[in-house]
Amino acid sequence: MNDQEFKVYVNKRRNKWKHKKFIANNNVFVEDELTREQLLRKIKECIEDVKHSRYFEALVEVIERNVELKPKAIVCYGLGRLAASNCSRYQFALLSLLKNTLDCQNVFVFDPIFTELDKDVLSNVYQCEIITENEKCKRRVGCEQVFFFMPHCDKALFNNLLWINWDVFCLSNVIIFGNSFSSMIDAIVSKEAKAQFNYLVNVLSLNLVNECRIENNFRLKDVFNDLSLHLFPVSEMDESVLSACYSLQSPVYNEENDVI
Ligand SMILES: C[S@@+](CC[C@H](N)C(=O)[O-])C[C@H]1O[C@@H](n2cnc3c(N)ncnc32)[C@H](O)[C@@H]1O
Repeated sequence: MNDQEFKVYVNKRRNKWKHKKFIANNNVFVEDELTREQLLRKIKECIEDVKHSRYFEALVEVIERNVELKPKAIVCYGLGRLAASNCSRYQFALLSLLKNTLDCQNVFVFDPIFTELDKDVLSNVYQCEIITENEKCKRRVGCEQVFFFMPHCDKALFNNLLWINWDVFCLSNVIIFGNSFSSMIDAIVSKEAKAQFNYLVNVLSLNLVNECRIENNFRLKDVFNDLSLHLFPVSEMDESVLSACYSLQSPVYNEENDVI
């Protein structure tokens, strides 16, 4: 694993430095690990902070306007290390509040970078089920709605999720709260990359996704930046359009974009 150490200047007045490590393979920054007790306290503070934020209020409004049914499950990928990232703790705070908004207590979580402490707190304190196998986001939803919570995940993970659910029956039951699809697609320029992320590209170009943007007005700007709610209002009439750009073979990526 390719880890790089950084010192990040966090507070000008107190002249404080924070050690951060960049784990290149996972594309994530981690800080020094908190103890279990510190972690539990910090998560509670994050939940209070998010609960009273305008960001959460706006997201709830968007969900209530667009999500008609109660999802069968919430599946969270790519949260990062709770005990070593403030950003991950805030995102988890939002996830735990959404359980009530969506009236859904079945929460599944996976990140290959989770430590034993993260898993302990997620499962024993917050009753989340840890997914034991790296499914690389290839989870087919079937006949009930599933809400996917994927803050700042890599493009390939969204592309995999779309591929495995690429028919009207499944796609209409997928809801994704994650990186703005339109921003991700705008950033893809080369023909080769477009071909690799073809499900992401096609869902947009074929007008099969309804992206609801949420203004990033949260106090900390790097926690919920560029996240949108995505719904796929497809009907039987779209089946032939979908099958025309579907391949049975699982998506293949070059080394730079490959899924961990
Ligand atoms: C850019 S980081 C985002 C972390 C955090 N959500 C944030 O915003 O700081 C991407 C995360 O996706 C995770 N990831 C990579 N492969 C994954 C997989 N196959 N399934 C779930 N998560 C994965 C990485 O370990 C990493 O924590």
